[in-house]
Amino acid sequence: MKHNFKKNIIFQKYEITRIKRENKNGYTSKVIWFTGLSGSGKSTISNMLEKILFKNNINTYILDGDNMRSGLCSDLTFSSIDRNENIRRIAEVAKLMLDAGIIVLVSVISPYRQQRLLASNILGKNNFIEVFVDTPLHICEERDPKGLYKKSRSNKISNFTGIDSLYEFPEKPDIYLDGTYSLKENIKKLVKILYTNNVIFFST
Ligand code: ADX
Repeated sequence: MKHNFKKNIIFQKYEITRIKRENKNGYTSKVIWFTGLSGSGKSTISNMLEKILFKNNINTYILDGDNMRSGLCSDLTFSSIDRNENIRRIAEVAKLMLDAGIIVLVSVISPYRQQRLLASNILGKNNFIEVFVDTPLHICEERDPKGLYKKSRSNKISNFTGIDSLYEFPEKPDIYLDGTYSLKENIKKLVKILYTNNVIFFST
C-alpha cells in the first residue's frame, strides 16, 4: 500500500522566531556564499571575514565544502548529481542557521549556475549574497594547497573542477573579488560592501 507520507508532515511554528532573534542580536542574519575554484582563496577569505565578525560580536558559522563532506555529505561523490545534492543540503543547513539568527559564510566550489540559483531560491534572494572569488585556474594550480591539481593532472583523481569538470563562473555575482589581489585588499572591499549594504554596522 502506497502512502503519501508528505501530507502527514505539519510544519510547526515556534514562538521564538527569526525576527525575535535578530532583534535581540541587533543585526539581520544572512548567507554569504563564496564560490570559486579549489585553491581560489574562498576559505582564507571566509576565515578572515569570520574573525572580523566574531570580534564585533556577530554570531557566525562557516559551512565549508571539505568539512561538510566529512560529515553530513560524506556519502556524496563529485559527480554532477552528487554535487547538486551537496549544494542542496548545504543550502538547507544554511537556511536553518538563518532562522537561528546567524551570519553564515558558505565556502564551497558550487560550480554550476543552476546550483547557486537553487541555493538562492532555498534561502530567499534577500538572504543570499553571492561572492565570486575569481582566481585564474593557472594560479590555483600553482598554489595547489592540497596537492589535488597535481593528482588530477596525473589522473589519480577524476572530475576535478577546472580540469575535467566544469566551473561556470557567475555572470552577475553580488560581490566580485579578484583572487589575485591580496587578502587584505579583498577583505577591505568585502567589509566595505557589507557595510554599505547594511549587513554589518561597522567598517574596518
Ligand atoms: S562542490 O563542487 O560540491 O561544491 P565542495 O566545495 O563541496 O565541492 O568540495 C570541494 C573540495 O573537495 C575541494 O576544496 C577539494 O579539497 C576537495 N575535492 C576532492 N576531490 C575533488 C574534485 N574532484 N573536484 C573538486 N574538489 C575536490
